[in-house]
Amino acid sequence: LAGRHALVTSGPTREAIDPVRYIANRSSGRQGHAIAAALAALGARVTLVSGPVHLPDPPGVSMRRVESARDMLAACEAALPADIAVCAAAVADWRVAKVAPGKIKKTGGRPPALELAENPDILATLSAAGNARPRLVIGFAAETDDVVDNAVAKRRKKNCDWIVANDVSPASGTFGGDRNTVHLVTESGIEAWPPLSKDEVAMRLARRIGEHLAAAR
Ligand code: C5P
Repeated sequence: LAGRHALVTSGPTREAIDPVRYIANRSSGRQGHAIAAALAALGARVTLVSGPVHLPDPPGVSMRRVESARDMLAACEAALPADIAVCAAAVADWRVAKVAPGKIKKTGGRPPALELAENPDILATLSAAGNARPRLVIGFAAETDDVVDNAVAKRRKKNCDWIVANDVSPASGTFGGDRNTVHLVTESGIEAWPPLSKDEVAMRLARRIGEHLAAAR
């Protein structure tokens, strides 16, 4: 992957409610960080745009630390052009429509209602970036049910090239865990990968990316 620029998103996003509270999710960032490390190990120049995680920076990658989905999108767009984009972040689907300027107080038995607004879809935005679209755009589909069917539909809907589908049902132990059982959905079909560590999934994906770009050259 020498001479290629890869953009990777990783981790959760945090959507502020007020200056002290936020909405987030359980993404650890392990899979996204492992992919950034694997791409760098194969020689790519890597920009890793990450939400808040408790992980060391992968060796040899250029870090962009962000909090919200909108910050993540801005950092991704600023990082273009890229040959490869891998969107592994667990981006919050919604943010709070109006962030309170001060800490919201309890008002005796009447809890506040949070109005939500939809966040931009970073994967779909990169996939629709026209001339700036990375040659290979890869998304993840984390599902608890009908993992492969949902991934095939998601690939079309978001107009990305590949989807890495993984089972995040509580029984799978994927979220926060070290192992991942994935299916790779591409233009030419569906591959079931054996249970692998997140580092092994990352290295296998990075090699596939290298082969694909070499073949398309
Ligand atoms: O629609 P869903 O969230 O299931 O899609 C998951 C894929 O889309 C992941 O690759 C994720 O990184 C990406 N995504 C994104 N921006 C969003 C929501 C999801 O890039 N706002």
